[in-house]
Amino acid sequence: MTRHEADNASRPILGGRFTFPGTQLAVQRMGYGAMQLAGPGVWGPPRDPDAAVAVLREAVAAGVNHIDTSDFYGPHVTNQIIRQALHPYPEGLVIVTKVGARRPPDRSWKHAASPEELTAAVHDNLRNLGLDAIDIVNYRAMGAVHGPKEGSIAEQVTALAELQRAGLIRHIGLSNVTPTQLTEAQTIAEIVCVQNNYNLAHRDDDAFIDDLARSGIAYVPFFPLGGFTPLQSSTLSSVADRLGVTSMQVALAWLLHRAPNILLIPGTSSLAHLRENLAAAELGLSLQVLEELNGISASTMTATH
Ligand SMILES: NC(=O)c1ccc[n+]([C@@H]2O[C@H](COP(=O)([O-])OP(=O)(O)OC[C@H]3O[C@@H](n4cnc5c(N)ncnc54)[C@H](OP(=O)(O)O)[C@@H]3O)[C@@H](O)[C@H]2O)c1
Repeated sequence: MTRHEADNASRPILGGRFTFPGTQLAVQRMGYGAMQLAGPGVWGPPRDPDAAVAVLREAVAAGVNHIDTSDFYGPHVTNQIIRQALHPYPEGLVIVTKVGARRPPDRSWKHAASPEELTAAVHDNLRNLGLDAIDIVNYRAMGAVHGPKEGSIAEQVTALAELQRAGLIRHIGLSNVTPTQLTEAQTIAEIVCVQNNYNLAHRDDDAFIDDLARSGIAYVPFFPLGGFTPLQSSTLSSVADRLGVTSMQVALAWLLHRAPNILLIPGTSSLAHLRENLAAAELGLSLQVLEELNGISASTMTATH
């Protein structure tokens, strides 16, 4: 083995590995979010179904082993594409889904969180993904538009814990929740991850992330690139220009530097964007650059979500 090969062999790929607490599940920190694979408005089939399949296959071929999805994307469509592209699933692939909403024919997003609805949603995920058990199911609480709202989630976590005991769910996570809701959930079940809205411009969860890092629970930001309104700021562009990379790559690399328990699930329907996003895991940021990026806040963004 040459020195160069040895260096490459020892360098962690895709941001290195993270093990969900109390589990045997280990994933690369750079994963993939599948929401963008459905049609416009996260509804119906994609404009280019072959491209959707190609994106998933290339992600997995590149080493991605953490895919975030939901049966309410499409609805059903995204999970069916995942199954078509990847089933039988390779050893070690961790598919994480979420329950707690449904999509009526008017294409809106409605809360669907009774124990019966959650159970039906888990069965929908199992059927459409072609699985006997799901590695991680997040209970997605409804709150403000894309932010949490206080209120008990005990009934929902209890329902998921029962599905876990029945062997349909291996581990439980939460989405769109507050620290108080996490504490309540932890009295009922072990929680392995939290998935909330967070990115360079939207940093409400800074203290929450640090607390979760101390207990080893994964924090998985949704909208890491700004979601429906991609991040834009002059500071971000200027850093990206200086480093010879794209703004989106800097935004993802910043998240990987932010805390060791952050796992990324950027969403894309494009092979070019997938390649760009995966390459961001290789991007080192100096302390000086991190400080500059930390100065970005929602008010300095030209467009934020
Ligand atoms: N728990 C929740 O409530 C919740 C809510 C929303 C999302 N999620 C999950 O989180 C994942 C990530 O969130 P997201 O997909 O909504 O938002 P995101 O990852 O912040 O951004 C996705 C958007 O950025 C574009 N994009 C991706 N890579 C790009 C690149 N390199 N350059 C320029 N544009 C790029 C995508 O368009 P292209 O397709 O053209 O690349 C898409 O419009 C989702 O896929 C989903 O799995 C969870």
